[in-house]
Amino acid sequence: MSAHLLVSDLSASPGSRTIFSDLSFNLAPGDLVGLVGANGAGKSTLLRILAGLLEPESGRVQVSPASATIGYLPQEPRRSPANHGHEQLADPDIEAYLARRTGVGPAEVEMYAAADALGDASPGAADRYEIALQTWLSLGGADLAERSHDALAAVGITVGLDTKMSSLSGGQAARVSLAALTLSRYDIYLLDEPTNDLDLASLERLEQFVISLRAPVIMVSHDREFWLAPPTPSWS
Ligand SMILES: Nc1ncnc2c1ncn2[C@@H]1O[C@H](COP(=O)(O)OP(=O)(O)OP(=O)(O)O)[C@@H](O)[C@H]1O
Ligand SMILES: [Mg+2]
Repeated sequence: MSAHLLVSDLSASPGSRTIFSDLSFNLAPGDLVGLVGANGAGKSTLLRILAGLLEPESGRVQVSPASATIGYLPQEPRRSPANHGHEQLADPDIEAYLARRTGVGPAEVEMYAAADALGDASPGAADRYEIALQTWLSLGGADLAERSHDALAAVGITVGLDTKMSSLSGGQAARVSLAALTLSRYDIYLLDEPTNDLDLASLERLEQFVISLRAPVIMVSHDREFWLAPPTPSWS
């Protein structure tokens, strides 16, 4: 899918301070935007608004087509029951973590709920199920389990899918997070500091993945090297 992100006149004041105002931009397929700024500048707040998790003070965020999936990948892992509403699993195993980060888990929940509604013959149930199924398929749900083993092996993770995320080291958890990213099939990507805790080989893998995407990407990173020497896009 060729997805666009359309942002107009966005303002945010999460505390008493306005952190940005009248922000307008459009992202098209192939756009890769690096978002840099001081701690507290508002990068994560912007991504959360774009992902629909926070209401802006004013302005509008649209995705086109409306069915486009947005992959908002917050800095992870959060090991504890978090203060963020979207964080539902306090200590997932790797399989559940991959399902959540790729969007396949939530899509599966909706698909089963839609299937139940089909049984009740509720109005609109057939359309709801069709949309849920298409979303799950487009996110790569059909073969996520098969692909997971290779993606984990590629980043050097050899423990089982039932291993708790909390039992991994920070670097190992970051590699699982990278594996989740490479497994994902979103139409738009909002990545919040995906470079944290990655070693050089993993950083290179992340770079290769990000530049190979045709989907629009916004990526927050304090890693200046990442922006100064990006590899050439493989599809240009
Ligand atoms: N829910 C909230 N209530 C009050 N203030 C908030 C809230 N969320 C964020 N802020 C404030 O908004 C500002 C921007 O925070 P944000 O987390 O977006 O910054 P950031 O650029 O991502 O920083 P960092 O580089 O440290 O990750 C900060 O001053 C923060 O204290
Ligand atoms: Mg942040």
